[in-house]
Amino acid sequence: MIREIKWQDMSDLIENYYSYYDELNENNGFGISFYDEKPSYVKEIQWFSDLYVETISGDAVAVVSEESGKVVGLCEITRLRPKSDMGHIGTLGIAIRKEYRGRGIGRELLKKALELSEGKFLIVKLEVFTINNGAIQLYKEMGFKEAGVIPKSIKRGDKFYDIMQMFYDLTK
Ligand SMILES: CC(C)(COP(=O)(O)OP(=O)(O)OC[C@H]1O[C@@H](n2cnc3c(N)ncnc32)[C@H](O)[C@@H]1OP(=O)(O)O)[C@@H](O)C(=O)NCCC(=O)NCCS
Repeated sequence: MIREIKWQDMSDLIENYYSYYDELNENNGFGISFYDEKPSYVKEIQWFSDLYVETISGDAVAVVSEESGKVVGLCEITRLRPKSDMGHIGTLGIAIRKEYRGRGIGRELLKKALELSEGKFLIVKLEVFTINNGAIQLYKEMGFKEAGVIPKSIKRGDKFYDIMQMFYDLTK
């Protein structure tokens, strides 16, 4: 089931986020950006609370996928610098628990998040590892356009990864 986030989703979402840190240990090229150390639970509560407040104030959309009572994926679009001349831009992030990937959940989350962005944002942008072919293909299919690559954007140990910037124009 795809739906907007609820306050009760906090613990599942934190657990999911921690699981991505575990994946990073197995896959150095895992496609989301990480802090050097796993953030504390308190920091995570702060992150969730901020996101939740932003959804209420109209500065974010946050959509989850719920499977058998557990939240297994999140797509969030948060306003870049509210009340500024960049306030029409939303920044997108998406991640799904490993066991639930490749079943169409990512596509559904993106579709719903972009629908909810109508009237809220004019441009949605994101950054994706150039090696993340599956994600890039999905974004293109949804209507995202490439806006260039910044080399060596991520440094993990002595390995660098390039990042592609992509955008979706809601004015069209
Ligand atoms: C990227 C991600 C969100 C996609 O979600 P998903 O639920 O796995 O994707 P879907 O099952 O909806 O796939 C939709 C389409 O995306 C493309 N796709 C997704 N994963 C792919 C892969 N590994 N290889 C090739 N194409 C892939 C395909 O075009 C697919 O369509 P198809 O199934 O009809 O062939 C998910 O894999 C994920 O959470 N990855 C780890 C975190 C991450 O990389 N996030 C992106 C940060 S920019």
